[in-house]
Amino acid sequence: MQNAGNIHPVFDRIISKEQKEQLLKQRAKVLWFTGLSGSGKTTLGAAVEKELFNRGFLTQILDGDNIRSGINKNLKFTEEDRVENIRRIAEVTKLFLNCGVITINCFISPTKESRNIAKSIIGKENYIEVYVNTPIDVCEKRDIKGLYAKARNGEIKNFTGITSPFEAPKNPDIIINTDKLSPEESTKKILNFLLKKITY
Ligand code: ADX
Repeated sequence: MQNAGNIHPVFDRIISKEQKEQLLKQRAKVLWFTGLSGSGKTTLGAAVEKELFNRGFLTQILDGDNIRSGINKNLKFTEEDRVENIRRIAEVTKLFLNCGVITINCFISPTKESRNIAKSIIGKENYIEVYVNTPIDVCEKRDIKGLYAKARNGEIKNFTGITSPFEAPKNPDIIINTDKLSPEESTKKILNFLLKKITY
């Protein structure tokens, strides 16, 4: 995508991320959950947020269904639109990050390309990838939103895991095997990794 000309971003006169982190007494990081629809990303993200809130951390959850009904409502589920979805989300995430806020992102982010774009916009030192590894048959059996049934009978096209690819991340920072860990154990595992990185 091309930049319009005559744009002069200003970074040197605004209060820095470090100054805002000092105000909030926390270090801002991005916890980026990736996984199939129905894998448990938002459930885990919300549980982590609650634990962080109780410990005095300021957070913001960004979630696929919410973002896609607001800022990204003009985007569909083609591979191109998914990349654009993630690119915009990563830019929004960067604004929170620079404000010192810990951001918890719950998006399928199905391709390596989209996750790499997110990581490069956010900065690899701030990006923590959590792979919520729930087998597709488990997601499909749960089918909380009824979308797998619709994808199977052709009502929804380009559905992740059925008619659209999901590339499992090769080197995530954290893997959550939800068939082996309870939600409580999964939350604890994430907190163990995260707390030392965000503590001021
Ligand atoms: S992403 O692939 O672009 O990262 P995102 O996380 O924003 O996806 O949105 C996924 C959510 O959109 C799913 O949890 C589901 O509720 C809904 N959805 C609707 N259509 C599709 C589809 N074709 N594939 C995947 N999810 C879909």
